Amino acid sequence: MQNVVPRLRVSRPFIEHHHNGADQSHIFTGNNEPRLSWTFETYGPIQGWHQTSYEIKISGWGQPHDNHRVESSVSVLVPWPGKPLSSVASCKVKVRVTGTDASGNAVNSIWSPETSVEFLPKRNELVANFIGSSLTQTDGPLRPLRFRKTFWLDEFEGLADSARLDITAYGVYEVFINGERVGDEVMAPGWTSYSHRHTYQSHDVRNLLKPGGNVIGVEVAEGWYAGRLGWAQQRHIHGNQLGVFAQLDVITTESNGAVKIISDETWKYGYGPLISSELYDGEHYDQREDQHGWNQDSESAESCWSPTTILPFTKAELVPSEAPPVRVVEQVRPIKLLVSKSGQTIIDFGQNMVGKLFVRCLQRPAGHKIVFGHAEVMEDGELGVRPLRSAAATDSITFNGNMLKDWSPRHTFHGFRYVEVKGWSPSDAEGPLTLDSIEACVMHTDMKRTGWFSCSDEMINKLHENTVWSMRGNFLSIPTDCPQRDERLGWTGDIQVFGPSANFLYDTCGMLSSWLQDVASEQATHDGIPPFVVPNILASDEGDGSWGNFPQAVWDDVVVLLPWSLYRAFGDVQILKRQYPSMQMWLDKGIRRGEDGLWDPSFHQLGDWLDPSAPPDRPGESRTDGTFVADAYLLHVTDIMSQISKILGNMGESAKYALDYKIAKKTFSRKYITIDGLLVADTQTGLALAIVFNLFKTPDQAKVAAARLERAVKLADFKVATGFAGTPIITHALTSVGLQNLAYRMLFEQECPSWLYPITQGATTIWERWNSMLPDGSINPGEMTSFNHYALGSIVNWLHEVVGGISPLEPGWKKSLIRPVPGGSLNSAKVEHDTSYGTLSCSWSVEAGKFKLTLTIPPNTSASVVMPNKQASKILGHPEEGLEVGSGTYSFECDHIPERLRPKAIPIPFYTKIKEETWFD
Ligand code: BGC
Repeated sequence: MQNVVPRLRVSRPFIEHHHNGADQSHIFTGNNEPRLSWTFETYGPIQGWHQTSYEIKISGWGQPHDNHRVESSVSVLVPWPGKPLSSVASCKVKVRVTGTDASGNAVNSIWSPETSVEFLPKRNELVANFIGSSLTQTDGPLRPLRFRKTFWLDEFEGLADSARLDITAYGVYEVFINGERVGDEVMAPGWTSYSHRHTYQSHDVRNLLKPGGNVIGVEVAEGWYAGRLGWAQQRHIHGNQLGVFAQLDVITTESNGAVKIISDETWKYGYGPLISSELYDGEHYDQREDQHGWNQDSESAESCWSPTTILPFTKAELVPSEAPPVRVVEQVRPIKLLVSKSGQTIIDFGQNMVGKLFVRCLQRPAGHKIVFGHAEVMEDGELGVRPLRSAAATDSITFNGNMLKDWSPRHTFHGFRYVEVKGWSPSDAEGPLTLDSIEACVMHTDMKRTGWFSCSDEMINKLHENTVWSMRGNFLSIPTDCPQRDERLGWTGDIQVFGPSANFLYDTCGMLSSWLQDVASEQATHDGIPPFVVPNILASDEGDGSWGNFPQAVWDDVVVLLPWSLYRAFGDVQILKRQYPSMQMWLDKGIRRGEDGLWDPSFHQLGDWLDPSAPPDRPGESRTDGTFVADAYLLHVTDIMSQISKILGNMGESAKYALDYKIAKKTFSRKYITIDGLLVADTQTGLALAIVFNLFKTPDQAKVAAARLERAVKLADFKVATGFAGTPIITHALTSVGLQNLAYRMLFEQECPSWLYPITQGATTIWERWNSMLPDGSINPGEMTSFNHYALGSIVNWLHEVVGGISPLEPGWKKSLIRPVPGGSLNSAKVEHDTSYGTLSCSWSVEAGKFKLTLTIPPNTSASVVMPNKQASKILGHPEEGLEVGSGTYSFECDHIPERLRPKAIPIPFYTKIKEETWFD
């Protein structure tokens, strides 16, 4: 029989937002009716395909076998079709679909691969305890502990239907069964707001158990639970006792066997070779203290253990993890060995990254010590450690004379490109340090990569790549500001501005929607004000409330804007529903309003934080007034809130927010805009906010603003004059009023401050400040200077949506807008996004007076395509002619003569060099 190649394939069903990195085949979920989604791939020329029905097959043990056929075009987050899952069941799910193409021909899929789903126990079925040592300590770092439990599996014959380990810790842990590592997560359970939500992880451990004696070993270090956090040197924020919680359930249905092992006083604890392991300060390993086989069934391992104590149970909700875990996702080899000015050996990995070192094998005499100091940059021939502030970022090994194999710090991470090594050098006679003897392990939350961009200019490609690296470095369990100094906190403003970029580059939904739950819980116990950082470690800091209890626009607006941007990217209305009370709490209670209903101007606002004109030691002193920025945001979030209420069917509330918005817009206009359209905040950020958030009353006023923005950009000689609030939107504002030539001119600027300046200085990540490194190679004198902050990289959203030209028109990319805006010296660009339906890609080139576009629209979606010759700016207000297309691959072409001359700056005498420059040399 001839093999028929199917024309349509569907992926294995995804379970809720459990995108577990590489492994999608077995999913644990805390939801007994999880929603399912699948993506499509077509083969051959199929256009305009849409789904007409789906069929889901459920099979497995402990769960009724079921087949469900539903006439529906929905393929994203469809309701669970069968009986709710039970916690003693594990089942397999697969899907197939029917549909028709544009000409009405039936094109159906075969069955997808299967996903196996296991429902996790309810809280009352988890009967284990948190156990720890009986020692208490009130200051200093807590030495990591090891826990050990031996147990016998009598009936076990390797035929268990289920053997699941549910585990978490007071601290961060690694777990082993019979000497084998369980799973490959690092820094588990990750960082949540431990006083509200403590997550546990589940592992299928069938393959690790054996008949007879078995051993579970767990190593716990302080992590975020008890470690030093924040610049105020706080320790033990959640407790000063490390602990573990573990429950192993082995079920063999045939013999009716069930074995339950839980953490209790029968477990033992002891110290291992880790003398200390801290987030900021690093990990110190003493090989002399290691006990071979500590986590295996061996007699020698039975000594030196003490009895454990039951610790108070967490007051937080104990819940299954919804976010993908943190893993080592890549190994990077060094590119160079250097010698510092003071004669120390320095390893250069060629890339600023987040993670830890790895040494495959090394032997040194007993007592010999190697010390690794990490930093992001070099300054004046030495490791540039000043930006780390109080973080020591140093790991060490003390040897016992035997061969040390596969050493890597276990429970810490650093932000680094350079590592200074003491005690190991390239000239050592035995086991010298070479480029082959050490690697760096890149760590982050293992999300699925979903977005790519490239174009004909290598510097712009580097800018995009650097942004991806900064996102990777700051998506380690929670979205952070920076990964290297004594901070690494969940600053709300940073992810608020970077959210839309992040949601394009990776499947962030599991991680960010998990974090948002903590934002809501923290906010609820905080007078409706979202804390500056979540988890809120600033609450207990500085009793004057300066950081702990301070309402802030831009930062706190994350409660509305991040769920909104997740909804636009992933189409999950449940996220809006879940976060709605938090949004309302902020708008109705948290915001401090003055008499006119806008922000109380007596509140200090960080506003356009890190405007390049702000002095190094006063990063909030922006040229755009903070209250103006706050009010512009207030209008924007009120408008979005009215849209969200409507989507959720809360019509009364939608009307109320719409009215609030109308009134606020009037007040804003009276307060900040002259009748002729001049804006009080006549700056790049002020004008861009008013244009992008549509704050003008009349089109004529908007035209005046566009002209002022043009002036502001030209007066600045095309340099960036924006901070956190203006940077994500300045180029959007310019292109939306037809000034794309200026947007491109700013993009291509190389002098400081600009997006490309750091690249001229060799940057491999996005910097916190426009000039974190000064042109003379010295580090910015401000005490807050990181080389890995994603906020200023938020321009990539414009690269994706405007240069590349793809954005979601309907939530979750059910319908896309394809509207590439060519410009500058670019003669081609390509953008690709793995949507919840399949891959959307768009590439264009400009050749011989023609603009050529190639497009692939995923099955079950549609798009509106606007070619450059049909584009009108918002301000001109002409309707754009979008061409409606269904799924498939298309090519389009139109006439296009690129602008030759680069725009000219407005000369300021003695100041600005005005050159006649062309885009194409
Ligand atoms: C962080 C920022 C943050 C800011 C707000 C800094 O220390 O690194 O990114 O948003 O503080 O004050």
